[in-house]
Amino acid sequence: MNVVVVGTGYVGLVAGPCFAKFGNKVTCVDIDKKKIDRLKKGEVPIYEPGLDDVIAQGIKENNLLFSTSLKNAMKDAAAVFIAVGTPSRKDGRADLQYVDAVAEEIGKNLIRHTVIVNKSTVPVGTGKRVTEIIKKNYKGKFDVVSNPEFLREGSAVKDFLEPDRIVVGVSSKRAKEVMLDLYEPIDAKKIVTNVESAEMIKYASNAFLATKISFINEIANICERVGADVEMVALGMGADSRIGPKFLKAGIGYGGSCFPKDVNALNQIAGTEGYDFKLLKSVIEVNNKQRLYFVDKIEETLGHLKGKTIAVMGVAFKANTDDLRESAAVDIIRMLTGLGAKVRAYDPIAIDNAKDQLGNGVKFFDDAYKAMEGADVLAITTEWPEFIELNFDKAKKILKEPYIFDGRNLLDPKKVKKSGLKYIGTGRR
Ligand code: UGA
Repeated sequence: MNVVVVGTGYVGLVAGPCFAKFGNKVTCVDIDKKKIDRLKKGEVPIYEPGLDDVIAQGIKENNLLFSTSLKNAMKDAAAVFIAVGTPSRKDGRADLQYVDAVAEEIGKNLIRHTVIVNKSTVPVGTGKRVTEIIKKNYKGKFDVVSNPEFLREGSAVKDFLEPDRIVVGVSSKRAKEVMLDLYEPIDAKKIVTNVESAEMIKYASNAFLATKISFINEIANICERVGADVEMVALGMGADSRIGPKFLKAGIGYGGSCFPKDVNALNQIAGTEGYDFKLLKSVIEVNNKQRLYFVDKIEETLGHLKGKTIAVMGVAFKANTDDLRESAAVDIIRMLTGLGAKVRAYDPIAIDNAKDQLGNGVKFFDDAYKAMEGADVLAITTEWPEFIELNFDKAKKILKEPYIFDGRNLLDPKKVKKSGLKYIGTGRR
């Protein structure tokens, strides 16, 4: 099948090459010429394990093309995917300007019955909106489908190729057939529904996962007060198959380009419809407080932060990515420096991005122990597995005060304590 994917962000740049891997002829389109030129040479602009191989294979087999011209790419396309960004507006609603612009261009360049697939995370009703925009520019037949994506950064290729489910929202039999044909190589549960339900499945899924995280963070905060250990509590809860063990990791809360944006957007959608989504509002509030709470712990332990130096391990919003968007670690660094502390930060791969964002106020290092030099205490803010292997005896010798604040409950407290360091986690005794 000839497929076009518009947008080479995380979603488009994973979906396109993966469709090519199944033998489809795929053209990935972006208005960013520099990015397209790099991609043509096989250079991958994001850090995503395994993606370079899939792209290299697609280019080699001539199944994967990159272009800045949607018009040319669309000529033989059976399906055109919209995978552009939907950032948050100031009021929390999703900004649909990029989706609208692509829909308009699709409308202007349609020449045959094509399936237009929305893969961007969009509010319920966007399928209809895209249909209206295309209709203004094209009078022939076409289908608009919602096909939300559930991949995670850091495991995007695997998540795309081995998903728990594929959700397809359609309004015609033809569109259903094209979509099921395209996803035929993937062995996963296929849920076919109407466009609005598919759009809502995406928001509801992200909001529910965010709720799980805020819930376990609240439990953690109570655990600290009653002498329970949230890690054991999560283990005990997660063993119930109705609850499940995933997304029950307590810490400094969720970040990233998706959860904060989508939870806010769903809250806004509810508000626009005159519905007060109380639970979701609390999820957001708890998440914001959790970062503050972590900084408070450091401040309380040290008495004050003015003039203190904190070695911060991790700036990415989670492990296995160099993405800093809505990173809790970045927020924490800003709070620490705002309260007069000096920050010496280390991250295995996100340092360059962090330098751009955090500027001169923070010192960055390419080695964890160098970042610890001259620091009073150590704070773990991203769940990079390599931090588990830190040499705590060495850290004890370097740090001025014997404290490790584990904002991700990543470390083994017993191992830390053996070195003489004091361990302060989240919701752990
Ligand atoms: C999330 C969803 O998991 C994907 O299914 C979805 O496709 C994606 O958003 C999207 O909408 O595009 P992602 O943002 O890549 O994926 O990251 P996650 O792995 O879900 O983590 C989100 C945040 O929650 C991170 O800051 C992570 O550290 C935090 N988290 C996660 C916790 O604090 N505790 C947990 O137990 C799990």
